[in-house]
Amino acid sequence: MPRKRLNKNDAPKQLTDNEIRLGESDFIVSKTDTRGIITYANRIFVEISGYRKEEIIGANHNLIRHPDMPRIAFKLAWDAIQAKKEFFGFVKNLRADGGYYWVFAYITPDLDPSGKIIGYTSFRRRPSEVAVAEVSELYKLLRFEEQRGGMQASQKFLESFLEREETTYEKLIHDLQLGEIA
Ligand SMILES: Cc1cc2nc3c(=O)[nH]c(=O)nc-3n(C[C@H](O)[C@H](O)[C@H](O)COP(=O)(O)O)c2cc1C
Repeated sequence: MPRKRLNKNDAPKQLTDNEIRLGESDFIVSKTDTRGIITYANRIFVEISGYRKEEIIGANHNLIRHPDMPRIAFKLAWDAIQAKKEFFGFVKNLRADGGYYWVFAYITPDLDPSGKIIGYTSFRRRPSEVAVAEVSELYKLLRFEEQRGGMQASQKFLESFLEREETTYEKLIHDLQLGEIA
């Protein structure tokens, strides 16, 4: 019988405040196919997720999607990587036990010699504390906008936020990781 492909519906419904902090030299790596189905996960990814390796490989990456994440964050990521660009962002991820961990994520498309996208690779490191504090607040506001007016509302909110701060999404992310408050 084919194995069940885990996805966000299999994620724990009971959330906890139990946060795991990545170590200074920790690197979480995963690879997916073009639809976001996990094809590779390194040891630390498996350990921190709380799932077994056999459950992770073949799962949809949204298995670890945390409900505090605004949808717009994933739209920005997918828009960039499908356009063959790199993406950087801060992500709160959900563990199998209902706890969470924050990462500073980098996602890049994997291209074949003809330039066709054949999958994606992501590397994640420990985010700066400033970034987690600032982005948690920003994501709360974006989630609020999404509940009110969908992703159009959160996109508009983000655009005006960036305009007010006289920055771009990319610059904001890098400044935050360097510990510089926008
Ligand atoms: C290489 C790669 C890595 C990803 N890593 C994560 C991740 O760590 N956490 C996450 O929630 N989504 C990650 N995603 C995005 C998911 O595919 C998905 O878009 C997201 O979880 C939102 O899912 P939903 O739109 O089904 O709610 C990744 C996607 C790719 C291509």
